[in-house]
Amino acid sequence: MNQKIQSLSGYLHEYQKSIHQPEKFWSRIASSFYWRKSWDRVLSWDFKGPDVKWFENAKLNITENIFEKHLFTHGDKTAIIWEPNDPNEEAIHLSYRQLFEKTCQFSNALEAEGVKKGDRVIIYMPMIPEAAIAMLACARTGAVHSVVFAGFSSSALADRIEDCQAKMVLTSDGNFRGAKNISVKAVVDEALEKTTCVETVIVCQRTKAEVQMKTGRDLWWHDVIKGQPVEHQAVTTDSEDLLFILYTSGSTGKPKGVVHTTGGYMVYSQYSFLNVFQYDQDDVYWCTADIGWITGHSYIIYGPLLSGATTLMFEGVPTYPHVGRFWEIVDKYKVNQFYTAPTAIRALQAHGLEPLEPYKLDSLKVIGSVGEPINEEAWHWYHDHIGKGNCPLVDTWWQTETGGIMISPLAGITPNKPAHASLPLPGIQPIIVDAEGNELKGNNVEGNLCIKFPWPSMIRTTYGDHQRCKDTYFSTYPGMYFTGDGVKRDHDGYLRILGRVDDVMNVSGHRMGTAEVENAINEHPKVIESAVVGFPHDIKGQGIYAYVICDMEGRTESGLIDEIKDTVRKIIGPIAKPDQVQIVSGLPKTRSGKIMRRILRKVASNDFSNLGDTSTLLNPEVVEEIIKGAKIQ
Ligand code: WT7
Repeated sequence: MNQKIQSLSGYLHEYQKSIHQPEKFWSRIASSFYWRKSWDRVLSWDFKGPDVKWFENAKLNITENIFEKHLFTHGDKTAIIWEPNDPNEEAIHLSYRQLFEKTCQFSNALEAEGVKKGDRVIIYMPMIPEAAIAMLACARTGAVHSVVFAGFSSSALADRIEDCQAKMVLTSDGNFRGAKNISVKAVVDEALEKTTCVETVIVCQRTKAEVQMKTGRDLWWHDVIKGQPVEHQAVTTDSEDLLFILYTSGSTGKPKGVVHTTGGYMVYSQYSFLNVFQYDQDDVYWCTADIGWITGHSYIIYGPLLSGATTLMFEGVPTYPHVGRFWEIVDKYKVNQFYTAPTAIRALQAHGLEPLEPYKLDSLKVIGSVGEPINEEAWHWYHDHIGKGNCPLVDTWWQTETGGIMISPLAGITPNKPAHASLPLPGIQPIIVDAEGNELKGNNVEGNLCIKFPWPSMIRTTYGDHQRCKDTYFSTYPGMYFTGDGVKRDHDGYLRILGRVDDVMNVSGHRMGTAEVENAINEHPKVIESAVVGFPHDIKGQGIYAYVICDMEGRTESGLIDEIKDTVRKIIGPIAKPDQVQIVSGLPKTRSGKIMRRILRKVASNDFSNLGDTSTLLNPEVVEEIIKGAKIQ
């Protein structure tokens, strides 16, 4: 593959080319793909709209670049290794040819059930091979998939179904996760009581749990594929046709549907995968994310499969049936590239070195981190004990909106610096700005991270609400994409991500808006007002701390706290459940009625120093009360 960068000087050279002649650069990268019709123009853009088009008027089907393009050369190569939750159950190996046939068969089934190009299909499934097949079959038929993480609640699912007006839901009976056996179909049933757009539900059998099947709406996966041919003529899509929608949280209440289109996403997810992980053709690659997140989309499914890689998909959790499970899997399949989140590293680090003893881990060539800033202690533990000191560690910074890795070392090429995402990939033009939007040039500067030039896999819009896309990402600093992250460029010119500068929390690598959690808390009938902030958490990175004003009549404090936590779990899902709830009589407010979150953040972090001048507050007396009642972590 001619796109793979081989050395540091090669990287610097490619980077310069990508900046000075971006269209020439990307047209060279894109030309290694199979297009049914080439583009008229590589790029047209305007960040004011925003209006960005890559490979304009080109026609393609992304799955032809996974299958048809490669079947002659590596049809028998393993595409997906699936490791079940229970290590005693048999693993599944699907070759590219087998995955192709299953994708074709399911594509035919989707079409037989009335799915057409442009229709939205929700995928609410556990980590089983059918989830990958579902995504690929949508792409093959031109349908737009929107995967919803199977840990989200029925109302979170209903919101997403409604927002994108999905016609179909693909799901399973249940989900084996660790010792749990979760009912999945029941959540879908509940969600569908609140929506009207879904015509068909296809249910894949996984746990054999008993489920309700609604006549005329619900069908079994094994029934719909019966008799369907294992060949399918891929639907032609335009480069700018929607490939998928993925909902993500922001600083305002309602999650937004980030829209990714086909051509640019294909090119960038593959290019970034190959280069960051330096994948070699016989390698086994494993990303531990869930397909419900962008990491699963770009670096379990699309990037690896477009590269002809062997990608491992794991159904379970790192601690089941024992805390060495990850390492057992690495040894079992001789995993070469391992990609996980700092929260998993910290959780496993807490168990000490003993669980590592039975494992060699000598197949590992590259280890990666994603989702949140990795602290230096976790970086070193990961590097020394998992990478045995001789695997490059790629700390990859990116977002749902960026579609692919933006800032990261290239494994074995970029010198490693603990906790630094380091340098931008070719084609990526980061810029650091101060609060007024002035560029902070040179080294040793700290500010807000923006991107000043388009890249192929960037967000095109937020589904159904283009203004929101503009307001959220392109208005803070006109002419630039604003990431919401703070960043430092150190004395060597290496970038270090400092975390969110907006009201977005990062809990175990999951993005959560403070307003979103507040809205859920406020649904409780006894709640009058609430304010949510993040606080430093040893394992999760950030925990959720809620200050709540309640009508206490007929309730005990501890009973109410449990009810509030449960309300959030029901409305959003377990990942949003506050770690701490403090009942307060008031929230510190400025004279204009704005909540002073700075004070709340400090108290939640058990940092009672420098609370600043509270005398200008409308209600300075509540600060003392809040400090007295603070939950000590
Ligand atoms: C936010 C995006 C991108 C895949 C998973 C998360 C934080 C992500 C890093 C990193 C420091 C990171 C940022 C970003 N983040 N990777 N390597 N170092 N922070 O996707 O849910 O869209 O969240 O995650 O704050 O803005 P996401």
